Amino acid sequence: MKSLLGDLEGFIIFMETVVSGIRPTGSLHLGNYFGALRNFINMQNEQNCFFFIADYHSLTTHPTPIDLYGNVRQILVEYLAAGIDPEKATIYVQSDVPEVAELYLYLNMNAYIGELERCTSFKDKIRQQPQNVNAGLLTYPTLMAADILIHHATKVPVGKDQEQHLEITRTFGNRFNRMYNVDYFPEPKAFNFGQELIKIPGLNGSGKMGKSEGEGNAIYLADEPEAIRKKVMKAVTDAGPTVPNQPKSEPIQNIFQLMKVVSTNETLSFFEEQYNSCQIRYGDMKKQLAEDMILFTAPFRERIIAISSDEAYLSKVARMGKEKAQESAAKCIQEVREIIGFR
Ligand code: TYM
Repeated sequence: MKSLLGDLEGFIIFMETVVSGIRPTGSLHLGNYFGALRNFINMQNEQNCFFFIADYHSLTTHPTPIDLYGNVRQILVEYLAAGIDPEKATIYVQSDVPEVAELYLYLNMNAYIGELERCTSFKDKIRQQPQNVNAGLLTYPTLMAADILIHHATKVPVGKDQEQHLEITRTFGNRFNRMYNVDYFPEPKAFNFGQELIKIPGLNGSGKMGKSEGEGNAIYLADEPEAIRKKVMKAVTDAGPTVPNQPKSEPIQNIFQLMKVVSTNETLSFFEEQYNSCQIRYGDMKKQLAEDMILFTAPFRERIIAISSDEAYLSKVARMGKEKAQESAAKCIQEVREIIGFR
């Protein structure tokens, strides 16, 4: 018995805490899957994982209550359909853990306007929605830091676009430690199994796949085959190579990159050869890409449909996750209050 406990303690000590979240702004797309979700599933067996639905974050774009509720539910369904196991990982809705908002408030006291204004995602938002530059957008990185620090996470599986937010999280955690002369918050790192963080491109020729990057740019896990075919066939290409081994333009690099994640190596090599020998027909390549995407997403879509109607299961998962996440968050908030001097 003693040695079993000893082994268990050793195991618990080695388990790192993992936190990540996704905003509920619609269904999940291949960028979300390859940048984040795939790693959630890979990490849940060995680490202490918290995966949440970032509904506070989504308020920056002022969703209606009906849209908010529906989108939170959809992400919960898709987390489960993609293979996150609620018995292994804690799945929760961010607003079910209001301790996060309290930590956000404390961290905001030591977050400076200048550093928040310099954040790339804030600058992008100013450009995208100049009519709605609210304080929630400016302090978005502080809320993210609160999400991560509240569970003392050390690993954060995210895509390339979140790298800067992780840097800011480390800054805020370290600043808190220095300010109160404590060694309290660990340094969380963006994580992709030792590989570069991923950026999955969209179909419109430039930039990343994203929900707000324009109609037809993203392929969703829940997409019907016909919708996938239509979007892929409209993907931006160029006039085609005119000399052997010509460097690829951005839209063509993007199509190849998408093929790399959903197609077999043989398919990819075949079209590489066709491109390099100037024989490529983009129409054929897109047809193949669409069929491979359909094959890849089909099992997700089936499970999404099945889980979506299981109200009792969804409520149970959300309740279980809320309890576990709250326990961890309440402990942190209690300690933080004491460190700050609230007695
Ligand atoms: P969000 O909802 O925009 O995206 C969720 C996750 O998907 C990744 N991602 C991509 N990865 C590769 N290629 C793409 N085209 C692509 N598009 C999206 C994102 O990098 C992210 O990992 N602020 C976060 C949500 C969040 C969070 C957190 C994440 C809130 N608090 C704490 C981690 C830890 C966001 O808006 O992600």
